[in-house]
Amino acid sequence: MSTDAPLDGKVAIVTGSGRGLGLAYAQELARQGAAVVINDVDEATAADAVATIEAEGGRAVAVVAPVGPTETAKRLVQTAVDSFGRLDILVTNAGVLRDTVLWKMSDDDFDTVINVHLRGTFTCVREAATYMRENQIPGRIICIGSPTGQRGNFGQTNYAAAKAGIVGMVRTWALELKKAGITANAVIPVAATAMTATVPYFAAAVEADAAGEPMPSFFRHDLGFGTSDDVAGLIAYLASDAAAGVSGQAIGIGGDRLQLWSHPEAVATAFHEGGWSYADLAAGFAEAVGELQSVGEKFPPLPEALQRS
Ligand SMILES: NC(=O)c1ccc[n+]([C@@H]2O[C@H](COP(=O)([O-])OP(=O)(O)OC[C@H]3O[C@@H](n4cnc5c(N)ncnc54)[C@H](O)[C@@H]3O)[C@@H](O)[C@H]2O)c1
Repeated sequence: MSTDAPLDGKVAIVTGSGRGLGLAYAQELARQGAAVVINDVDEATAADAVATIEAEGGRAVAVVAPVGPTETAKRLVQTAVDSFGRLDILVTNAGVLRDTVLWKMSDDDFDTVINVHLRGTFTCVREAATYMRENQIPGRIICIGSPTGQRGNFGQTNYAAAKAGIVGMVRTWALELKKAGITANAVIPVAATAMTATVPYFAAAVEADAAGEPMPSFFRHDLGFGTSDDVAGLIAYLASDAAAGVSGQAIGIGGDRLQLWSHPEAVATAFHEGGWSYADLAAGFAEAVGELQSVGEKFPPLPEALQRS
């Protein structure tokens, strides 16, 4: 590693970094000079990730444990401190899907997704932020959201709740951690990984990527859908000193596209002296609020040449 890399001397934890986006984040943080704590539930992928980073000249150790419980969060922070002396950067990326429509979603489907994404983000950030505050480290908290959390998506009640909740927590943490110089941001990625490989709409892009060919420009440009490496640069940037002034943001990234998401704002405001009764609303709701908000992601029609099924 070069001695003047932007993350030289810094230490990062990336949860769920055995493969996919998390591995790309860990590799990029290591390339930019950080020592990295790899985490995954799968021992073999975690060991491979450490070996990959070490082969590139980076420093990494693995913690094989499920994100969710406080015990894992404590182990992650303790391992960063024991192995590399400190903790500067936390990326909460671990995730699972249990997709099905609301009326078929079991308690277990709901709890599993909420536990890994929402509770896992909460417990890990609480532990990391406590350590950073106590040690006066102007750290970086980077939490992974999803377009589903921003807009809603058919078949993803559990995931939408978790990902929207993560962005809500990030806004709160940006306020609470500001005085300590710690930033908290959400990244909203889109990339070809095991998680998206089976979505028919993305099939032509996943196919090109697997064949080692560049993805068609429709995916990279119009949809903001590319490889995991396309997302990793933003993680390294937010982790760096250069992004000290960026906090409380939800930032979209994928393929050739970078986006700043708005936070919810009231788009229509109307007043009725004495308050709004049922009768007032029945008579005047439509006029008072104007056009209703849309839900769900907006995908442009897939060009015929890129349709696969
Ligand atoms: N791929 C996309 O386009 C996309 C879009 C939006 C958001 N995301 C989010 O990005 C993150 C990574 O997604 P991905 O596409 O790389 O998925 P992936 O399934 O390829 O990787 C997720 C990793 O997390 C690990 N994991 C699962 N449960 C865990 C737990 N309890 N503790 C620790 N590790 C655990 C898995 O073993 C796996 O290695 C997730 O939070 C996902 O929701 C992905």
